[in-house]
Amino acid sequence: MSPVNFIRHIVNRPWKFMLKSVPLLSPFRFQFIQFRPVQPLCIMIETLIQTMMYYFGSDVRRINHALKVYALADCIARSEHLTDNELSTVDIAAIFHDIGIKEAERKYHSNSGHYQELEGPAVAKALLADAGLDEVQLNRICFLIGHHHSYQQIDGIDFQILVEADFLVNCYEDELSKASVNSIRQKYIKTETGIKLIESMYLSAASI
Ligand SMILES: [Fe+2]
Repeated sequence: MSPVNFIRHIVNRPWKFMLKSVPLLSPFRFQFIQFRPVQPLCIMIETLIQTMMYYFGSDVRRINHALKVYALADCIARSEHLTDNELSTVDIAAIFHDIGIKEAERKYHSNSGHYQELEGPAVAKALLADAGLDEVQLNRICFLIGHHHSYQQIDGIDFQILVEADFLVNCYEDELSKASVNSIRQKYIKTETGIKLIESMYLSAASI
């Protein structure tokens, strides 16, 4: 078949072409099967975002903070090629990472990182009770929420990415000096994506 006729054949009979071709394209079939487990998370994540938003109520500043940290954590996690399970752990931990702040303020009249870590896991566990997460993943998410200011305890790529995303947002929200941002970059930012983002946002000539 000439190239011109081949293109006419595809245009006129697209479905027939796909049916004939897909079984031959084994890498695509393999990828299709690989992507299927991601679907339940895609359906769930918007529900979890709304759960966090309803919990924070009219506290728009904290809702916006959580959404920014989630977006950056998800971006870094995907760029660093985390597994589906690691990605969903990072995403959910990022959405709920500061969820302990309301209880910290209510019980201790403080929003310090220590009290947020203390109160966050129990609140997250209650809010995620019906999310259908397995126990191992739920415990990991709660561990990340309960330690996300304890940088000396970083023990995995999910933890590292959550810390980086939180710093990327806090550098702006806390109006940190360039020297402070540079210190954070040297001490705490380890992933290739995180380094590129913090340099682009705060340390390049254009960011002055
Ligand atoms: Fe935060």
